[in-house]
Amino acid sequence: MVDALGVAVVGFGWMGRVHTQAYARVRHHYPRLALRPELVAVAEEVPGRAEEAAEQFGFASTTRDWREVAADPRVGAVSITAPNFLHREIAVAMAEAGKHIWIEKPVGLSAEDARAVADAVAKAGVQGTVGFNYRNAPAVEAARDLIAAGEIGAVTHVRIRLFSDYAAHPESALTWRYERARGGSGVLGDLASHGADLARFLLGDIASLTADTAVFLPRRARPTTAAAGHSRAAGGELGPVENEDYVNCLLRFASGARGVLEACRVSVGEQNNYGFEVHGTRGAVSWDFRRMNELAVSRGTSYQDQPVSTVYVGPEHGEFAAFQPGAANAMGYDDLKVVEAYRFLRSVAEGTPYGATLSDAVHSAAALDAMAHSAERGAWAEVRP
Ligand SMILES: NC(=O)c1ccc[n+]([C@@H]2O[C@H](COP(=O)([O-])OP(=O)(O)OC[C@H]3O[C@@H](n4cnc5c(N)ncnc54)[C@H](O)[C@@H]3O)[C@@H](O)[C@H]2O)c1
Repeated sequence: MVDALGVAVVGFGWMGRVHTQAYARVRHHYPRLALRPELVAVAEEVPGRAEEAAEQFGFASTTRDWREVAADPRVGAVSITAPNFLHREIAVAMAEAGKHIWIEKPVGLSAEDARAVADAVAKAGVQGTVGFNYRNAPAVEAARDLIAAGEIGAVTHVRIRLFSDYAAHPESALTWRYERARGGSGVLGDLASHGADLARFLLGDIASLTADTAVFLPRRARPTTAAAGHSRAAGGELGPVENEDYVNCLLRFASGARGVLEACRVSVGEQNNYGFEVHGTRGAVSWDFRRMNELAVSRGTSYQDQPVSTVYVGPEHGEFAAFQPGAANAMGYDDLKVVEAYRFLRSVAEGTPYGATLSDAVHSAAALDAMAHSAERGAWAEVRP
């Protein structure tokens, strides 16, 4: 007999929908999961959006006030998929109410916010999972294992890139993402937070860094209707973009390895061009999100002119076997969220963390704070989680 766990979703935009789909699918892929999530509540401030979610996915109740979710005894776990400025307040309240939380990155507006959430989760003794979904890709896990096994020798340097055009259109709406008060940083929290997490997941702690940031589209149109995701607002009144479109950063790892992390949200001609190239003294491994189930691997003892081969991940890598029976059958983005849901629910079932935790969020947020600090001062900054 599998126990039911009442789950709620706060904020039903893109991520709210993806988390909900993951709860709906998780037992299809993980039939032995010791908990069965039940969609008991959805909180969303835009009128009608929660009701639509309930209609489509079968949430038992809807509200516009997330505080009702915190007070709801049916709810054991909460997905926090609202904008960044709400992460801290909602997450701390949910943890204090004894709810386990699955929260989206970057966990608040700053490392201080991420720390506050991590502390609240630790104090309440609940589980906390963070939406660093790219590390859930079987190929990324395989790359980490290969690096840890010394197959590319001692790691010397890494390049991490996250280029997107989601904010490149001149008519894209001036949503919470572009405001300091509600979004915090710009591409730092949005894309570089994943990059900082991948850097640490693959190579270990970042010790110090120096960064440069830029705003390329300084004005955008205010939304004329309720916005979600990256909607357009043609004809809306123009307002200022308050945070960076671009970051370029040099990294020094505690191991002595070096790195470059570059992220941009206004790169015309780039769609989800996310990935990394890790180099070592005997080989290299690289990954491109757009070919999520492949790795390019160079290993051996040739040093020079050493061939690079394509490895298709298969059932022996990460969580691949939960989705596909054999290598080169594709997994997709939403599957990474199913993996995340599985790890979250398994953490709750077993009382021990699996997957990305709030400690990982604090490390990523500390790197972002250091990037902002460095860009402001034009100097190297230490990363202090
Ligand atoms: N892991 C990833 O790959 C990934 C991708 C996109 C976004 N995110 C993160 O997910 C979060 C949400 O991003 P999104 O793209 O889904 O944004 P979104 O704007 O599409 O959705 C946010 C939703 O929250 C709702 N909301 C706002 N205030 C609320 C309140 N007080 N109570 C309830 N609902 C409220 C909005 O109306 C909207 O529907 C952000 O923190 C973002 O950084 C993560």
